[in-house]
Amino acid sequence: MKLTEAEKAMYDGQQGPAKQKAMDLLMRYGEALGAERLVEVNNVAGAFNASTPSVRELVKKGFDAVFSELNLDSQEVVKIPHMAVNTCQLITGIDNDNWRIQGIPEDLAEQQKNAEKHFGALGINMFATCTPYQVGNVPVKGEHCAWMESSAVIYCNGVLGARTNTEGKESTGAAALTGRIPYWGYHIPENRRGTHLVEVDIDVNDIMDYGLLGYWMGEIVQEDVPVLTGKIRNPSLIKLKHFGAAAASSGGVEMYHIPGITPEARDVEEAFSGRKMVEKLRYGPAERKLAYDRLNCADNRDVDFVMLGCPHNAIEQVARIALQLEGKKLSSKTQMWVHTPRALREVAERNGYVKMINDAGGVVMSDTCPAISRYAPKGTKVIATDSAKQAHYLPAILNLPVWFGTVEECVEAGLTGNWNGGLK
Ligand code: F3S
Repeated sequence: MKLTEAEKAMYDGQQGPAKQKAMDLLMRYGEALGAERLVEVNNVAGAFNASTPSVRELVKKGFDAVFSELNLDSQEVVKIPHMAVNTCQLITGIDNDNWRIQGIPEDLAEQQKNAEKHFGALGINMFATCTPYQVGNVPVKGEHCAWMESSAVIYCNGVLGARTNTEGKESTGAAALTGRIPYWGYHIPENRRGTHLVEVDIDVNDIMDYGLLGYWMGEIVQEDVPVLTGKIRNPSLIKLKHFGAAAASSGGVEMYHIPGITPEARDVEEAFSGRKMVEKLRYGPAERKLAYDRLNCADNRDVDFVMLGCPHNAIEQVARIALQLEGKKLSSKTQMWVHTPRALREVAERNGYVKMINDAGGVVMSDTCPAISRYAPKGTKVIATDSAKQAHYLPAILNLPVWFGTVEECVEAGLTGNWNGGLK
């Protein structure tokens, strides 16, 4: 790869061993990908934490050892300086307030709090959410970023028109210290052009239907770039968040266009920009039912855990849940966790939504989710969720059956302890 003078200086160790390790990692990574150069980034979203039991031994050597090994792929421990560019923490495994309810051991919760203190002082902004774009990290169109977390990546590329590949812990660590990432994949304009045309023949309007469309489409297009036309109604941050998270779960979709809505395609022609179409797809009632049936794998209608907020809920979603619960009580056999970024939990507290959810018997959680933490309420046998992504992953991660439906159906399941949802 060709390096600039500034990059050569970091690679030669003139700016210390940590940046040298970071540049070495980026060179190895970029060369494996066939990248010819690096690109400057000033927006990194990665995973810098110690919230899993597997890092207990490493933590004993100090947090520089944790960063060196997990974020720079280096067995040699190097002193980690302040981050060079704007960097934030994505989701972790532990809610710093509700760890007892999660079932996390005390020493692990303490370890994560210490890690946060250490990494926070190094300039890693502790948003602790998979949706940094909901709490102020909103890159502009064309901005090069280095983000992890598939649901955030597809939002960054598709909805915001910023540019990132799905990075890993190591490459985001190296990017945070150098302000560089290999120039390949979705950093290159030609790779962002459409490959598949998806004609949507039925109304897609609510969150559940956006999730179903994304889930069905992702499984077919896998890692290609779909262009959607047709009856896609009233798009919003929340709906596109669910659509993208679903498409990135069943496939590996990182970029899409909805001409007239997303920023890189004023029309279908611009979405493809001369790239040859691989396939034309149609989404109708049969395709919708197929996605719904795949996501609903439970038989037992007794629901004992309702998970809402994957990707993390916007304040509007928290409000909707709180208002449906207001003045009522959850079934004695059912628990409910409502996930939202910590910054929005503060807003939800001020609005009274947290109290409304707590009074009903639910918990508002931040910083984590069951798929990442691998913790659900003890004794859970059947889960209900409004998230196609969570419905996709939880049966594999927690080995538990899941019902998928609208947020109203899920809240109702929490109140009655029974699943009465269905495809309408
Ligand atoms: Fe976020 Fe966890 Fe879902 S990381 S996107 S809430 S699986």
